[in-house]
Amino acid sequence: MSEGIVKTAIFPVAGLGTRFLPATKATPKELLPVIDTPLIQYAINEARDAGVERMIFVSHPSKSAIERHVLDDKDLRATLRERGKARLARELKEAAIDEDLHDVMFVMQDEPLGLGHAVLCARDHVLPGPVAVILPDDLILGPKGCLSEMIAAYPTCDSGHLVAAMDVPRDEVSSYGVLSVLSRAGRMIKANGMVEKPSPEKSPSTLAVVGRYILDGSIFDALARQAPGVGGEIQLTDAIAAGIAESGLSGFEFSGQRFDCGSKQGMLAAELHLAGQDPAFDAVLDRFFRTQSSPTAA
Ligand code: UTP
Repeated sequence: MSEGIVKTAIFPVAGLGTRFLPATKATPKELLPVIDTPLIQYAINEARDAGVERMIFVSHPSKSAIERHVLDDKDLRATLRERGKARLARELKEAAIDEDLHDVMFVMQDEPLGLGHAVLCARDHVLPGPVAVILPDDLILGPKGCLSEMIAAYPTCDSGHLVAAMDVPRDEVSSYGVLSVLSRAGRMIKANGMVEKPSPEKSPSTLAVVGRYILDGSIFDALARQAPGVGGEIQLTDAIAAGIAESGLSGFEFSGQRFDCGSKQGMLAAELHLAGQDPAFDAVLDRFFRTQSSPTAA
């Protein structure tokens, strides 16, 4: 049974978000909205649906707005109710993390020394067992949450580390970590290596790793040993790759659609995708994008 195996979700949210400057000068990237919902909210919902008990946000002192967003704000809800907006107040309560149901922790990464370093910052606070890592700027939408799918599949993978994987065009592999594939069974991929940002010619496959991970406890020792890699940062992928012999590595091809909301193009694609599913946006989409059939001249 996979239920309850993964008790902890780590959300690294301490990065600088330079690709979205100046928007991210005062607003954390993780609070940028897709339509009206901040990226971090989608990530929290996914972790909640997957049944984790503890959520650890690895943040930065300058990003305290994240804390304000994820926790309940009773005063704001009271004001909304007083002003006849009870439905909005209810929606805010549902979105906030209920501290009676989940442990919530904020750990500071004072300097953005890399994603791997951010995960290492959570080490002393994780519950026993494998941990999930969710990158909020990788938005994955679909009928079933990516993390729920991965947790359900984890017992069948025979590896300590399971990473979310998706097939990408070969000319895009150099933007990702790419799996070296040993074997495949359905959506599960047994890997014997992972190459960071390979050239299209040298890439071992077109299966790219994206921002959902289930990692066994050995990852923390591996991260503590890990020397800085690309950009002088402690890279999570380097520590995962270094532990393949000890822990094993599998990839899981999730069913949802992934949007790289760390990039402007991905963010726009996510907005358009969600807007396209909501009739409230029909008129504006028609106006800007949908070709109207013009009457042909007789
Ligand atoms: P990114 O590399 O996409 O985010 O990290 P970034 O560095 O903030 O953005 P750019 O590239 O400058 O635009 C993925 C996730 O890891 C977190 C980020 O906050 C983001 O949620 N992260 C990254 C950390 O928590 N600490 C770090 O040192 C680096």
